Amino acid sequence: MNFNIAVLPGDGIGPEVVREGTQVLKQVAGLYRFQVELEEGIVGGASIDAHGKPLTEPVLKLAKESDAVLLGAMGGPKWDALDYSLRPERALLALRQELGLFANLRPVKLFSALASASTLKREVVEGTDLLVVRELTGGIYFGQPKGITKLPDGTERGVNTEVYTTPEIERIAKVGFDAARRRRKKVTSVDKANVLEATELWRKVVTRVHKEQGYTDVALDHMLVDNCAMQLIRDPKQFDVMVTTNLFGDILSDEAAMLTGSIGMLPSASLGGKVGMYEPVHGSAPDITGKDMANPLATILTIALMLRHSLDQGKAADRVEAAVEKVLDEGYRTADIKSPGCKLIGCKEMGRLVRDKIEKLG
Ligand code: IPM
Ligand code: MG
Repeated sequence: MNFNIAVLPGDGIGPEVVREGTQVLKQVAGLYRFQVELEEGIVGGASIDAHGKPLTEPVLKLAKESDAVLLGAMGGPKWDALDYSLRPERALLALRQELGLFANLRPVKLFSALASASTLKREVVEGTDLLVVRELTGGIYFGQPKGITKLPDGTERGVNTEVYTTPEIERIAKVGFDAARRRRKKVTSVDKANVLEATELWRKVVTRVHKEQGYTDVALDHMLVDNCAMQLIRDPKQFDVMVTTNLFGDILSDEAAMLTGSIGMLPSASLGGKVGMYEPVHGSAPDITGKDMANPLATILTIALMLRHSLDQGKAADRVEAAVEKVLDEGYRTADIKSPGCKLIGCKEMGRLVRDKIEKLG
């Protein structure tokens, strides 16, 4: 088997963590006897510098024609002053939309060795294992009308629109129910149905899909987003699969990341189109760029998701995750997850240790 992987390292710590991720990918390809061909493309701020825009046609084509896309991170203070339509983040949004990636899976699993790295109490976070299923190509991120207009009195008016249609809600609800079937069979749909009509529809459609499409073996409950934000830090173990809108998923997944000790631990998969896109949830972290301080584990765990969801290599995925767990159990930590008594190491060394464990786990 031969897989073409588009590698888009992006900005800031993106290239550093992606390097560790691709080394793991090449290693397991050797171990499990499949071929990977990696082709790199420039995106985000790096593309703005080279080509004047965050995403070029050739890179979009590279992504579309691949079997899977690995993405690092995009953005940084250098490009913050640019117009919205030219910002590095636009490349990410365009890729999601062009590739039809409406379902974003963000598994939030606490490795028990990291229970004390969380800012929350060990007894609250220990055992956390939830999956945020975030709608990714709709809602207020893309809804029309949008924009900033000048008013006659010289002030301005900024508008974004939360829009969801029945088919958009149906398909993401199904992704959530199907994912729950492979887990603990519980879905919490998160909305703001007491105030926002768009999510009143969301609740209605999710309820109907549950009933009419034969998902009654899965337990469904609904939660308002403000309550959910509170429940996540009060008792995260109550959640199995959380299905929610683009904006709420963006916010709740950052909050949930802190349950795992650091956003530097969180992988993600964006699915729904022909090609899956895989990225660590963290950003470009300009403050630590180039210092060999970044945590590559989110990207390495992202490779595990790619192996499982796009390359049909479930065993290799399990092995990568087990190797990460082992390195953490032995007390190795990057700066973002350090705790007293741990062995503080850099990005490259963390990558090397994980590869070492992958080798030994065979
Ligand atoms: C994320 C990020 C992006 C988002 C930004 C960088 C556009 O925060 O993937 O969570 O808001 O979706
Ligand atoms: Mg975000």
